[in-house]
Amino acid sequence: MRSKLAAGNWKMNGTQEALSELAAMADAAKGAAEVLICPPATLLASAAGRDANIAIGGQDCHANASGAHTGDISAPMLADAGATHVILGHSERRQDHEESDALVREKTAAAWQAGLTVVLCLGESLEQRENGETLDVIAAQLNKSTPDGATGETLVIAYEPIWAIGTGKIPTTEQIGEVHDFLRAELNTRFGAEIGNAIRLLYGGSVKPGNAAEIFAVPNVDGALVGGASLKAADFTPIIEALNASG
Ligand code: 13P
Repeated sequence: MRSKLAAGNWKMNGTQEALSELAAMADAAKGAAEVLICPPATLLASAAGRDANIAIGGQDCHANASGAHTGDISAPMLADAGATHVILGHSERRQDHEESDALVREKTAAAWQAGLTVVLCLGESLEQRENGETLDVIAAQLNKSTPDGATGETLVIAYEPIWAIGTGKIPTTEQIGEVHDFLRAELNTRFGAEIGNAIRLLYGGSVKPGNAAEIFAVPNVDGALVGGASLKAADFTPIIEALNASG
């Protein structure tokens, strides 16, 4: 059985005072689901180790371990700050920083080298969905962004349709199920059934307390990558609880 994962992506939000939210999530984090918070890099070291049940992750890393790359952060630095995970290939990085699948693949290899679990994001634009290209786009992103050698411990995939991020729009449960079943089949083909079935598949995009249980009931949804609703314990706690209660 794959363990469930409730992951929060704080994006470019939060200063020291936001860390009090972690304490308020602590009770929910004692449940069956794993809980991961990815705060901005400035909060990583102070967030790490605050709660034994809340893992901490970065939101990006450089493909190199060190060097002349002003403003960048490497995977070993994330690990040194106490991170155990890193989000890579988020659509905001792909858009804002023109990150390609090839670069995401290099970053993933660097993160694995540093012992980090990668939460690799992929998803289609609204135009691609309307053109019926969703599964082709996702297959290409998955296969080009993921190095060989993935395992259930080192890789988590987050399906985040770009048009659902921060918009309050959400795919139907049928649409989520179609993509997640497809991803599962692709992973099984690429890595073999034992590994393919061990890799967690998260849904991300406008997950809220009010829709979480319905999403978590979809087969092959092993949790969520939550943006806005992960910033406050009052919103994230019911999402964690819905995942704890899901089968
Ligand atoms: P929202 O939950 O705010 O839509 O963001 C989703 C996301 O991008 C998580 O990585």
